[in-house]
Amino acid sequence: MTEVFLNKIYSANGTDETREIYDAWAKSYETELGDNGYATPARCAAALAGVTKDMDAPLLDFGCGTGLSGLALKNAGFTTIDGVDVSAKMLAQATAKGIYRTTELINDRTAINANEYANIAAIGVIGTGAAPISVLDMLMKALPRDGRFVFSFNDHTLEDPVHEARINEWTDCGAARLLFRERGAHLPGIKMQSTVYILEKA
Ligand SMILES: C[S@@+](CC[C@H](N)C(=O)[O-])C[C@H]1O[C@@H](n2cnc3c(N)ncnc32)[C@H](O)[C@@H]1O
Repeated sequence: MTEVFLNKIYSANGTDETREIYDAWAKSYETELGDNGYATPARCAAALAGVTKDMDAPLLDFGCGTGLSGLALKNAGFTTIDGVDVSAKMLAQATAKGIYRTTELINDRTAINANEYANIAAIGVIGTGAAPISVLDMLMKALPRDGRFVFSFNDHTLEDPVHEARINEWTDCGAARLLFRERGAHLPGIKMQSTVYILEKA
């Protein structure tokens, strides 16, 4: 019987434990998420495409996993996508899809170079069971002026107000504009929703 991981991932603690779970999950991740109707990548991709003129500008898929997010971005019309992830086994599958310009294994101290990407995506990446909220600041700092950051918070993540508070810190002082915010389906199979956001750097 295939091991189930959705019941484990949301209690993962820290990058090492998270990475170990994703390494172990890599083989069955797409089947388990597909069986539960994983909807957030297509929602994020459509939202970003809706506010983007240059679909050829470099786009970073941060926490690309097995490449489901990259596939959704490609299907939405983005042509130049790089993928990075902390899990070698998830990343190997993303690389094998042949949809990324480059893929790279990173660690939790890796900072993305400033101004390298016009747009950045972190789809299903920040929050409970994945990367810490400090990643939001790191990615916003890497964007150029008018660069856009599309990301999602699932229901578990939204239970901790620290996550949406960090969005407000960027918008309240005028450092970023919130272009998009929409609640919708995440994993309908387990009745979980997510909110998709787009922040534009001022
Ligand atoms: C739920 S998966 C989402 C993967 C992909 N974006 C998708 O939509 O299918 C979360 C991913 O974030 C990665 N991740 C967790 N912590 C991370 C960190 N600190 N930096 C980069 N990636 C991280 C995991 O390895 C995993 O592949």
